[in-house]
Amino acid sequence: MTNFPVLKDLHIRITSKCNFNCPHCYAADWFNDEVKLNLEDTKALILQAVDLGCKKVTFTGGEPLVSPFVLDSVKFCFENKLRVEIETNGVLLDRIISSLGEDIKKVEFSVSYDGEEMRDRKLAPKVRENIEKLIKLGCDVKIQTVLTKINISELEHIFGFSGNLGVKNRVFLTHSPTGNGRTLSLFEILEWLKLIKILKSRFPNAIVELPDVFSGGTQKKCGWGVHRCEIMPNGDVTSCAPITFNKRGFVAGNIKTQSLRDLWNSEHFLYIRNLKQSDFKSLCAKCSFWKTCLGACRSISSSIDGDLLSPHPFCVSVFDMIKSNKVDKNLIPNSDVVYSWVKQIDDLEGSFSEELYESIVLKQHKLT
Ligand SMILES: C[S@@+](CC[C@H](N)C(=O)[O-])C[C@H]1O[C@@H](n2cnc3c(N)ncnc32)[C@H](O)[C@@H]1O
Ligand code: SF4
Ligand code: SF4
Repeated sequence: MTNFPVLKDLHIRITSKCNFNCPHCYAADWFNDEVKLNLEDTKALILQAVDLGCKKVTFTGGEPLVSPFVLDSVKFCFENKLRVEIETNGVLLDRIISSLGEDIKKVEFSVSYDGEEMRDRKLAPKVRENIEKLIKLGCDVKIQTVLTKINISELEHIFGFSGNLGVKNRVFLTHSPTGNGRTLSLFEILEWLKLIKILKSRFPNAIVELPDVFSGGTQKKCGWGVHRCEIMPNGDVTSCAPITFNKRGFVAGNIKTQSLRDLWNSEHFLYIRNLKQSDFKSLCAKCSFWKTCLGACRSISSSIDGDLLSPHPFCVSVFDMIKSNKVDKNLIPNSDVVYSWVKQIDDLEGSFSEELYESIVLKQHKLT
């Protein structure tokens, strides 16, 4: 009998290498490291994950399609009845299309497309062509876009492309200022708010990731630390790779010297699972949305504020602007709710929920 949760969702950063060098990329500090998982490491890891209840493996990186082992690893997942997702920049998709045959339809694809300026202008048409190819083959495709000051003028083009294809476009409203992104400036809060308004009114296929007070609590959370585990290209095991790419010590241990079972049940993961709302900082500790939001994306908070448990910077900025009367209510998504939220936080002394983070995530992901 085990008393730790099912490891449902395994993300394998199969290589640290990439054929791009995007100006926002959080993984860039690892590009020159000669680290990758070989086929033997990957197969052993997958079998250990299956033993812990794994149902799905996501291959990412770096760029997973530059790894010489990715195709055989995908096939090995299928042999073990696992679902497979590939998160890719889309340039090398032909390699996998020609090798997988009919099985290509079993792969779920998250293809990054940020317009013409953010990545490699010359290769952008190839990426669009490959996305169209996957759709014609009947694959499950989602596009991912990070909005920054570089591609903001391309909204029409980016969301016109995904909209015309009828594909969902997951939008990250900002980049974490880590890796290459350290030198790329962030939007001001008013720019963010204007962007959200445009996206919501003009592009129905855009799924904007926002903390729950702005989204109404309908967005599924990543479940980091409770049902999801990430393997770094050097075999380090973590709850959140975007954090670990920049804080190399944020790890449970290494798969080459310890079992996945021991790592999954180690201090690193237990710390996260045992968190309560009162462990979170400032607004999150008093927020009535915490039980569904759980603080939103920890990688964004920790990279902007330097603290794993601080509120999403978007919440902090909007809260301050409302308190100082510096924002037009019409610009705020879900504005009536957000104004009541500000009042509620002001009126409160203590925290709301003492339920453990783990138990909330298990319920959210229907794992109890
Ligand atoms: C690190 S990439 C790895 C997979 C693949 N190379 C790709 O580009 O899709 C995964 C996703 O993270 C996004 N990303 C990279 N750096 C980021 C940052 N600083 N903040 C937010 N998202 C970032 C990318 O745009 C991409 O959608
Ligand atoms: S975002 Fe993806 S494609 Fe771009 S540099 Fe990073 S790993 Fe490579
Ligand atoms: S204050 Fe925290 S819990 Fe509340 S909506 Fe913002 S990030 Fe989520």
